[in-house]
Amino acid sequence: MPQQAPDAADFRAQACARLEASIVDYIEGGAEEEITLAENQRAWDAMRLRPRVLRDVRDVRLHTDFLGKPVTTPIGIPPMAMQHAMWEEGAVATARAAAETGTLLAMSLFGAGSAGEVAAVDPDAPRWLQVYVLRDRDRSMQAIERTLPLGYNALVLTVDVVRQGKRLRDLRNRFEFFREEDGVHEDPNEIFDRSLCFEDIAWFRERAGVPLVIKGVLRGDDARACADAGADAVVVSNHGGRQLDTAIATGHALAEVVSAVEGRAEVYVDGGVRRGHHVLKALALGARGVFVGRPVLWGLAAQGAPGVRAVLDELAVDLERSMALCGARSVSEIDASLLASAPLEAG
Ligand code: FNR
Ligand code: LAC
Repeated sequence: MPQQAPDAADFRAQACARLEASIVDYIEGGAEEEITLAENQRAWDAMRLRPRVLRDVRDVRLHTDFLGKPVTTPIGIPPMAMQHAMWEEGAVATARAAAETGTLLAMSLFGAGSAGEVAAVDPDAPRWLQVYVLRDRDRSMQAIERTLPLGYNALVLTVDVVRQGKRLRDLRNRFEFFREEDGVHEDPNEIFDRSLCFEDIAWFRERAGVPLVIKGVLRGDDARACADAGADAVVVSNHGGRQLDTAIATGHALAEVVSAVEGRAEVYVDGGVRRGHHVLKALALGARGVFVGRPVLWGLAAQGAPGVRAVLDELAVDLERSMALCGARSVSEIDASLLASAPLEAG
């Protein structure tokens, strides 16, 4: 653990010094003009709080559960590919930090190294498995069936990558986002199933044998249809602004989704969540938890598992302070009354 209070910006600087510029761009970049990428964070920043005072906040607790599995904070790590390009041990280092801190880790099965090694870090840790559905449905199902029993509590289908977004930085860098499996290079634009629709959710739900999470939903009607099809949770996400530029910021989409699912599915959110007060705002809008993406990768690329751990610890401390300053002693005391009703315009 670093002696001084770490900040994500320090890890980013350290990571940039170690990594090739094209990897930095892959991590940091978004689609096209990166408008959604910027707006994600601004949406959280622009919301204003109505703190409660005089609530005896000597003891503030962050613990909660994600789909019934206890976690120490409502801040999880989302699925992110290519971690072996950021640190030699890749996602195994991230998994170690997650398990040590009791943080939920969603593991990307796409180009992210061995899901078995990640599970072996601690088979009982809170952990979800994320997949993209391949055109070859049998191959998807075989990978899922092989991997889930190794130590995964839920299956995440990411549904906002029917095609890859136009990432100008990657195009300029000629960055090849390919994964290698059995020595074969595979292009996501060729192998992902573009025909995926709501009926398929029911199909996966029946076969998975664990709760099903649909990641990449931005509308109330879609979220309700996911719940109707049997999804246990949805993640309000625009893929960190990496897919459709000018897609709505997740902080702006969240309330509609929460209201549409009427408690029939858990609602999570990611995109631009960087500060404790961002997490608090997401929970006040009805999210059960949030996911923080790029800062975790900066921690990983800077220092491996201790870097990830420092980023997670700092976020938890930040959230604990924000909760205390809002008079919320537990996540269940974070409610909509903490938000000013008319959020300032983002920008
Ligand atoms: C991602 N994301 C992602 N999502 C997913 O479902 N499967 C994946 O394999 C990946 N891969 C990936 C790689 C990298 C480098 C990044 C930055 C992101 C999206 C990720 O899960 C999440 O939705 C966003 O990163 C959240 O936004 P922030 O916190 O990074 O702003
Ligand atoms: C990405 C893909 C892998 O965002 O989801 O890079």
